Parts: sequence; structure tokens; C-alpha cells
Amino acid sequence: MPVEPARESGGVPPHAAGNGSPGGVWWTWGMDSATTIFDRLGGAAAIAAIVADLYERARHDPELSGYFHATDMDNQRRKLAEMIGEALGGPQAPWLLGLDQAHQGRGVTHRHFSLMAAHLMDVLIERDVDPDEANTVMNWLSSGRDAVVEDPDY
Ligand code: HEM
Repeated sequence: MPVEPARESGGVPPHAAGNGSPGGVWWTWGMDSATTIFDRLGGAAAIAAIVADLYERARHDPELSGYFHATDMDNQRRKLAEMIGEALGGPQAPWLLGLDQAHQGRGVTHRHFSLMAAHLMDVLIERDVDPDEANTVMNWLSSGRDAVVEDPDY
């Protein structure tokens, strides 16, 4: 059986060569570790701004404001920004409570979770976040629903 000759450029597979491949060694394609979604959104400052907008909206939403009436909002903004930052590939958050512990006894409903999510989506749109990136952020948020919602019937 003939042995395949070694190929230059790290061994581009024959089916991919010459068809617009991004170049470099093929096993690194799609592995662009130089940027994370955290970087692409603009890093800690951009995420802090998104979180500030989100809580501004929540505090002016008559259905949500009650949850935060006794909350130190500076602290709250910092914590959520750190949590989101870490989830999107930024620095590890100096840890905090788990999501279920943080929301225990708060009685968050599905409806209120969805309202919060809608506010976040609005903020991302308002800030011209790329739709694919916004989708990633929203999927992450949605993965916390079961831990946050305490009243699954509503
Ligand atoms: C996946 C969605 C959510 C995330 C990632 C999230 C994240 C957080 C974080 C990081 C904390 C602080 C935890 C700590 O003290 O260590 C927190 C606390 C809290 N969250 Fe959420 N949250 C979410 C959804 C919600 C929703 C939907 C509501 C209400 C509508 C809510 C209401 C609260 C309240 C009332 C606190 C406690 C504030 C205080 O200390 O006074 N959260 N959340």
C-alpha cells in the first residue's frame, strides 16, 4: 500500500486543501483560543456596562423591582458581572454563592426569570452585540433557570 507523502503546511487534508481553508495547521482551525467571547464583547468594562443596564431596567420594572429593594446594587452589579465574565471565558470570579443558594427563599418565578432574560436581550440589542454572541450569552443565562426559579408553577 502506498504511503501518503508528507504534506507541507502541517498536513492539510486533501479534501480541504484549496477550498478556502483558513490556513495554518488544520488541527487548529476553529480553535481560536486568542479571543474568547469575553474579549470580543469588550472585556470586563463592556460586561459591567451590560449588567448596569440590566439592573437599571430591572429596578424600573414594576414586576421585578421588589426583588432588589433591599439590595446593595453596587455589590450586586459587581457579582453578576464577575459571574458572567467567568462564564464567557474571562477571569475566574472570586467565588460567590452558587446560583441555587443565592436565590433560595427569593421565590423567583418562571415569569420573572423570563422578564429578566427579556431585559438582558434588549440590552444586548441596544448595545449592538453581534447576534451570535448574544445567543451565547442568552443560552448561558437560560442554563441557570432551574437553579434560580423556585416556583415552577408560575
Ligand atoms: C441566570 C440568571 C441569574 C443569574 C446568573 C443571577 C446571578 C446572581 C448573583 C451572582 C447573585 C449574588 C450571589 C451572591 O451574593 O454571592 C444574585 C443574587 C440575587 N438575585 Fe440573581 N441571578 C439570576 C436571576 C435572577 C432573577 C430572575 C431574579 C429575580 C427576578 C434574581 C434576583 C436575585 C436577588 C433578589 C438576589 C439577592 C440580592 C441581595 O443580596 O439582596 N436573580 N443573583
